[in-house]
Amino acid sequence: MNLSTIILAAGQGTRMNSTLPKVLHPLNGKPLVKYSIDLADALSSSRTVVVIGNGAEQVRSALGESVAYALQPQRLGTANAVQAAEGLLADASGLVLVISADMPLLTADTLQRLVTTQSQNTGPMALLTVRSANPRGFGRILRGVDGGVTGIVEEAQATAEQLKIDELNVGAYCFNSSWLWQALWKIQLSPKGEYYLTDIVAVAVAEGSPVSSLTVTDEEETLGINNRVHLAEAERVIRRRINQAHMLAGVSMTDPELVYIEESVKIGRDTILLPNTWLSGSTIIGEGCEIGPNTFINDSTIGNHCHLLASVVEGAVVEDEVGMGPFCHLRKGAHLGRGVHMGNFGEVKDSYLAAGVKMGHFSYIGNATIGENVNIGAGTITCNFDGVNKNPTEIGENTFIGSDTMLVAPVVIGKNAKTAAGAVVTHDVADNEVVAGVPARPMKKKE
Ligand code: UD1
Ligand code: CA
Repeated sequence: MNLSTIILAAGQGTRMNSTLPKVLHPLNGKPLVKYSIDLADALSSSRTVVVIGNGAEQVRSALGESVAYALQPQRLGTANAVQAAEGLLADASGLVLVISADMPLLTADTLQRLVTTQSQNTGPMALLTVRSANPRGFGRILRGVDGGVTGIVEEAQATAEQLKIDELNVGAYCFNSSWLWQALWKIQLSPKGEYYLTDIVAVAVAEGSPVSSLTVTDEEETLGINNRVHLAEAERVIRRRINQAHMLAGVSMTDPELVYIEESVKIGRDTILLPNTWLSGSTIIGEGCEIGPNTFINDSTIGNHCHLLASVVEGAVVEDEVGMGPFCHLRKGAHLGRGVHMGNFGEVKDSYLAAGVKMGHFSYIGNATIGENVNIGAGTITCNFDGVNKNPTEIGENTFIGSDTMLVAPVVIGKNAKTAAGAVVTHDVADNEVVAGVPARPMKKKE
């Protein structure tokens, strides 16, 4: 059956104490509202409308045009927010799922079951409930003598007796589309001056229509984000889910609580992640690697059987069997060939180091192309920036760069060449040539 989704995201989020709209706060690197959008996609929602209000333009520009937006001009309550989407959805038949952007832990499985429940319901709507000893300000579910849902009472309006009810309104609903759009208009203004979507239950009941419900068994799924404490709690849950999925797929973690992986990251089997490892963005890690401790990898590809210790890798490509660290920094455009070895305090940017290059100790390589099996001595620097331009350095295969060599770019060093310790290379060096000094000159061959 055709499914549309409305995501309520117009609220202020005052308790976040932030200039950023609540729904844009990152949760494990992904904006809160994106969780709801991804859920809608997972359910194959044919149309998804995000209702925006506070920070509308910020939300729009952060999310782009992958979804449709409905503007709620004033915060007149959750029913009014749903009404804002009517213009975009009223012609759609089938079911309408309504969820809030501040409930990122609901799973696609639970929402799918809610949709299925409604598709089998003879009445116009179904909703999610949860039983909990901790009411968290949620609305209470009222049931009649036959056990059917008869209403939802908001905490502010609940009687002392109703406050004791431990069945809570999760805030996720599935409606028959045609019924929803006319029922919304029957909701009366609440004493708080808002139109509550929760009052739509009473509208159905007054018509004599059954309201279905589905109880979420895992209370954790119903955690709502109202402040940054909740955000941190949700972060732990998301992280645990992601890490468990990786572990079950063959990735080891010595302490999963201390491993931070964004949803987008892919990791091969038999890779071991040590504490304080952060993997983010479009990162792909191969099989049989050992990563960490204290390693940050963003938007990078790491091959198989690599070993990265206490290093920072951003926008880089690392081929198989590379060993790196501690304290290496690969920046945008760094590409390390198979078997490259980088010891401590190496920095590489916009450079290709071919297979077998060794760079053991504190060096900077920028805008360089380095041939196979080159040895880069301790303290080597490509002086790539002349104050205006970034200039290239090229080094041929099997060349030996002596400790503390300054390669003043643009410069080309040939194959099987050698620079002596402390050389400042300002001119190109031919194949097999040995240079030394400041500025570096070819050494005379011994007679
Ligand atoms: C709502 C429910 C409550 C439920 C709880 C679960 C109502 C009246 N109450 O309360 O029964 O237990 O969710 O989390 O619905 N929003 C708008 N426009 C508005 C008002 C709200 O877009 O005018 C959005 C908010 O941004 C938020 C969602 O609707 O994403 C829920 O609103 P919120 O104010 O957080 O409602 P709760 O008090 O949590
Ligand atoms: Ca809320």
